[in-house]
Amino acid sequence: MEKPVQVGLLGCGTVGSGVLSILQANAERIAARAGALIEVRRVAVRDLKKYRTVSLDEALLTTDPWEVVSDPSVDIVIEVMGGVDPARDLIAAAVDNGKPVITANKEVLAKHGPELLSLAARRGVDLFFEGSVAGGIPIIKPLRESLAANRVQAIVGIINGTTNYVLTRMSREGMPFAEVLREAQALGYAEADPASDVEGYDAAFKIAILASLAFETPVRVEDVYCEGITRITPEDIRYGRELGYEIKLLAIAREHEGRLEVRVHPAFIPAAHPLAAVTDVFNAIFVRGDAVGELMFYGRGAGSLPTGSAVVADLVDAVRRLRFGGNGRLQPPAAQLPIKPIEETVSRYYVSLKVVDRPGVLAKIAAAFGENDVSIDSVIQKGRLEDPVDLVFVTHEVQEANIRRALAQISRLPVVRQVSNVIRVEAEV
Ligand SMILES: NC(=O)c1ccc[n+]([C@@H]2O[C@H](COP(=O)([O-])OP(=O)(O)OC[C@H]3O[C@@H](n4cnc5c(N)ncnc54)[C@H](OP(=O)(O)O)[C@@H]3O)[C@@H](O)[C@H]2O)c1
Repeated sequence: MEKPVQVGLLGCGTVGSGVLSILQANAERIAARAGALIEVRRVAVRDLKKYRTVSLDEALLTTDPWEVVSDPSVDIVIEVMGGVDPARDLIAAAVDNGKPVITANKEVLAKHGPELLSLAARRGVDLFFEGSVAGGIPIIKPLRESLAANRVQAIVGIINGTTNYVLTRMSREGMPFAEVLREAQALGYAEADPASDVEGYDAAFKIAILASLAFETPVRVEDVYCEGITRITPEDIRYGRELGYEIKLLAIAREHEGRLEVRVHPAFIPAAHPLAAVTDVFNAIFVRGDAVGELMFYGRGAGSLPTGSAVVADLVDAVRRLRFGGNGRLQPPAAQLPIKPIEETVSRYYVSLKVVDRPGVLAKIAAAFGENDVSIDSVIQKGRLEDPVDLVFVTHEVQEANIRRALAQISRLPVVRQVSNVIRVEAEV
């Protein structure tokens, strides 16, 4: 073998230490697959004194990440520090210096992916990011390479482990959202500031990346319609179950008549759908291609070793290409599909109302739905003789604008105490 390939690591936290331990544990196997020995040359961290879970020569550490990207002996840069600033500029500088970059940073890719990919293509340098979406699950490479023969029609993913864990516990134990969240925080499954997960922003970053790749169109995170899970109640979950559904936070990207729908929101899916069986912190991505049909990728969507596995696989790829050459580097998105506004999307809806229990109430509500072209598939009423009672509808497919108009009208009816919740039903994922 020739001289080792030298790696500069930006960050040695959860993912960075996973990368280092995999490189140490499987050094020979990885070298054989990459066609070169791999050595870690420099490691940038914020705090030199911090305890590291992985064995690491202290002489490699620096607090200056710029030192790593500009070190002429560093052949490949791995960025696992997170955030946009200075990660974006560091990635750009490394690429500009002709160094392949591997990153797991969803935020920087969702916000600046197209420009970084353009730069990498211009400089003829690899920019790989398998770890940025769904941790250890291979999805970027399948979309780029294994599914190259297909026109992707839809991607539907459970790509945030924290929210999947929370919804699973709420479903299993009938616990309210706030209580499960508190427990998840105590167990370390949820951050102290949970907004990025529970409001759906983390999933929005990831679906923006997947949609850009699958539909070859630049999808910015602002293009993603996003609703979180904070308003889901155990009652919604119970009523959904009675109707044959499970609840999931879905990230959806779909092409329809030349336009793209890209959205993150809670949704009911049929209990028999394979995504319904994805529980706890697991992730899964369901892909439909015109040639291959339906595929599902399942596994651990985060964590030190799973994400490290994705990052090191990219590293092996980058080393092979550095050593043996290879063309067909990832091009920036070439198409410009317009994004469909949420009001124009079509879905079925679960609508839960609190109403007074009086004859004629159902007729009034049905009339308001009818006036807005919303047709009803099923109705359940709960808590007879209580005041108010729960009335739950599931609609047939209808445009979002119509359901919004109908609900505005329904919420003004004197017999309606409250529109408790509105949840999309993705009956045909
Ligand atoms: N955690 C996961 O399971 C997971 C899964 C998929 C993708 N990702 C992505 O991977 C990236 C890293 O995540 P992580 O969980 O490993 O984060 P983390 O545990 O917070 O680690 C970040 C590392 O970067 C270092 N760092 C941060 N800012 C720095 C700066 N300005 N200069 C020098 N060093 C700096 C930190 O130094 P100190 O150690 O000294 O604080 C730390 O070692 C993020 O983009 C994240 O979204 C994470």
